[in-house]
Amino acid sequence: MKKYYIRTFGCQMNVNDSQKMAGILKSLGYEPATDWKEADLILVNTCSVREKPDQKVLSALGEFKKVKNDKPDAIIGVCGCLAQRAGYEILQKAPFIDMVFGTTNIHHLPQLLKEAEEGNKAVEIIEDIDRNETELDKYPTVRDNKYTAYVTIIRGCDKRCTYCIVPYTRGKERSRRIGEIIQEVQLLVEDGVKEIHLIGQNVTAYGKDLGDVKFWELLYAVSNVEGVERIRFTTGHPRDLDENTIKAMADIPQVCEYLHLPIQAGSDKILEAMDRGYTQKEYLQKIELLKKYIPDIALSTDIIVGFPGETYEDYMETIKVLKEVEYDQVFAFKYSPRPGTPAAEMKMTEKPETVSRWLSDLINLQKEITFKKNRVYENKTVEVLIEEEKEGKLVGRTRTNKLVHLDGGHNLLGELVKVRINKVNRFSLEGELIQELV
Ligand code: 5AD
Ligand code: SF4
Repeated sequence: MKKYYIRTFGCQMNVNDSQKMAGILKSLGYEPATDWKEADLILVNTCSVREKPDQKVLSALGEFKKVKNDKPDAIIGVCGCLAQRAGYEILQKAPFIDMVFGTTNIHHLPQLLKEAEEGNKAVEIIEDIDRNETELDKYPTVRDNKYTAYVTIIRGCDKRCTYCIVPYTRGKERSRRIGEIIQEVQLLVEDGVKEIHLIGQNVTAYGKDLGDVKFWELLYAVSNVEGVERIRFTTGHPRDLDENTIKAMADIPQVCEYLHLPIQAGSDKILEAMDRGYTQKEYLQKIELLKKYIPDIALSTDIIVGFPGETYEDYMETIKVLKEVEYDQVFAFKYSPRPGTPAAEMKMTEKPETVSRWLSDLINLQKEITFKKNRVYENKTVEVLIEEEKEGKLVGRTRTNKLVHLDGGHNLLGELVKVRINKVNRFSLEGELIQELV
């Protein structure tokens, strides 16, 4: 049997695409390799959201090239967002690559592979990234986790945040038909999945292009599938998060009390320059509404530090928001100009050292807030979905997305259990089982 190895960079959409590619490869008779060195096929699924992931891809390719020393027939392929944007450049920089394909060409993997096996360079990067990917949707995924699964509900993004490459690598918003989504959810549940994680670059825009269905209606439809125990979704845009959706989140028992709601910056001037479509006040009103309907909700966000024109005063507005909202988790990044985006034309105003200092101060502040939020769990009893067994411990998540380690038997995998938290670490919780079934 031939073996494949997939290295994935980037967001949940890329992870899901890799799971689909694994599904395609399984149908072609491939099995996963534990190590890239033993693989007959290496696929690198790339991200282009910042410059750092760009660089990581090239260094990974440099490493994977060595596979050909022992196995001259091994095939190396590059796909994903960087391939979409700069596939031909990558091919020039790394001529040993056998396959390059774009974000909407994944379903052609069987044909591309055949071409590469015949000794040709298999390249397919179509410019029409706005096409529907119904062929890809038909393939089952191969997942590491048996009990939680991603389901893509919408692809692409119609927002035009000035810093963001996504509209150029993933195209316009295309929602999947609700019937197809529900069918996929049903199949996953039959396969043992308990938690459905709806994903898209902008899930709260779901249905806008279809015209006859809203995101919150999809939430109800998914919750009506027998056997769905938990529902999560990422990523929502603050502008599209309406009261109906928040009400549905509160009303549907399976929707977890957790939301990732990127703010990006606290200053109105910077939000405007980013073209985010809301002010700090409007964003905070949404947070207030969320806390009103779902009092124990856990929140996380994304922040960009050092956007062109950001001053110390602007940055302090972001700090103010972090202190006020008290997020459970924050993903903070240094602004990285992306070729072809409007912000790449704007003048960088702060020194890189200053931006680095701002970023590390922000991360340190958030560490304390995260720890404080975690300490609330001490001696509390929470529902945990046991997802895996690792180094003799069971590992699962609370509805609020906190990682929990506990002792217990193999038979609890995939079960919802009650756990009393007896130790709080900075980034995880430890507890003991008090009741097997919730
Ligand atoms: N520079 C830095 N961070 C970025 N992000 C998106 N584009 C950029 C960029 N050009 C961040 C945003 C987004 C997350 C996925 O990546 O915070 O929410
Ligand atoms: Fe990276 Fe964005 Fe592509 Fe996801 S959609 S892989 S974050 S560039």
